[in-house]
Formats: sequence, C-alpha cells, structure tokens
Amino acid sequence: MILVATSTVEQTQAVAATVAEHVAAGDLLLLVGDLGAGKTAFAQGFGAALGVTEPITSPTFTLARQYQGRLLLHHLDVYRLENLNEVMDLDIPELLEGDSVTLIEWGDAIAPALPANYLELRISFGEGDDDRLVQITAVGPRWSARERVLATALGVAPC
Ligand SMILES: Nc1ncnc2c1ncn2[C@@H]1O[C@H](COP(=O)(O)OP(=O)(O)OP(=O)(O)O)[C@@H](O)[C@H]1O
Ligand SMILES: [Mg+2]
Repeated sequence: MILVATSTVEQTQAVAATVAEHVAAGDLLLLVGDLGAGKTAFAQGFGAALGVTEPITSPTFTLARQYQGRLLLHHLDVYRLENLNEVMDLDIPELLEGDSVTLIEWGDAIAPALPANYLELRISFGEGDDDRLVQITAVGPRWSARERVLATALGVAPC
C-alpha cells in the first residue's frame, strides 16, 4: 500500500499524473472515496498526463465516457448503478481489451463483478478543507509487480 497526503487539487492531480506514467494497455483502476473527495479531479490529472486534451467531466449521468490519449481512456462513474446486474451492460471485459485503460469512480461498489487485478485509489478527507489522503493499493499480480516502482516515483516508501 502507498499513502500520499495532498493539500491542493493540483497535488492530487500530480499524483494522478505519476500513476498515469505507469499504466499499460488493459489496466483497470478503481477510484474510491466519498462525494467530493476528488475522484473526478484525479481522473482529470490522470487523463491530462495520458495526453487527453479535451476537458474530462464527471461521467455521473452518462456512466461512461471515452477520451483519446496515448491510450484510450474509459472513464466510468457507477454511483448510480442500482445493482450488480447493470454492470453487465457496461461490458467491462470488452473495455479492458485493446489499447485502453479503464478508470471507474465508485469502483469498489462493483468490485465483486470485476477482475481481481486492479489498482485501487482511495481518496479520503484530511483535516483542512483541501487536505486529502490518497491510499493506493495494488490488487492482484498485475499491479503488485509495479507497486514498488510506483512508490519510488511518488517519492514515498510502500507500507
Ligand atoms: N487535495 C485535493 N485533492 C482533490 N480535490 C481537491 C483537493 N482540495 C480541494 N479539492 C476540491 O475538491 C473537489 C473534488 O471534486 P470531485 O468532483 O473531483 O470529487 P468526486 O470524488 O469526483 O465527487 P463525486 O463523488 O461527486 O463524483 C474539487 O472541487 C477540488 O477542487
Ligand atoms: Mg466524480
């Protein structure tokens, strides 16, 4: 697990940019955290670092949006999904194929329906209004192999 404290949205986006430098085609990342924690802000920093030039907006009402960068970015928000059956309609296995990475806001809610090979990014509120704690957890071999390298790039020791 990797812990990084941030105190501005730009710092959270810088963390996201570093994570984006370590992604490969087929990767899945889950963004977890309460309303307003910074999941979409993270996605914006992540997308920008992938070379996405169009504005990345909250996909809350559309469930899924695509952006072209060095890889295709699938940005999903499953907050409004009522049950796990609806996950089928998103056809996540299909999204994970090809030259793309998939980022799912509120992804923990559908984790049982996902492959157990993802990076979890959990953002929680700190003391000050703009303080956040970003907790990064590798789930499955695909990400655990990269955890140490990612921690070094973020300038922290894995714990
Ligand atoms: N350190 C920080 N990291 C991230 N966001 C921050 C930070 N400090 C302040 N903010 C602000 O918090 C807000 C986060 O909003 P954002 O839409 O990214 O949250 P969210 O987790 O996607 O919420 P939702 O669950 O509604 O989708 C933004 O207005 C952002 O500017
Ligand atoms: Mg959001």
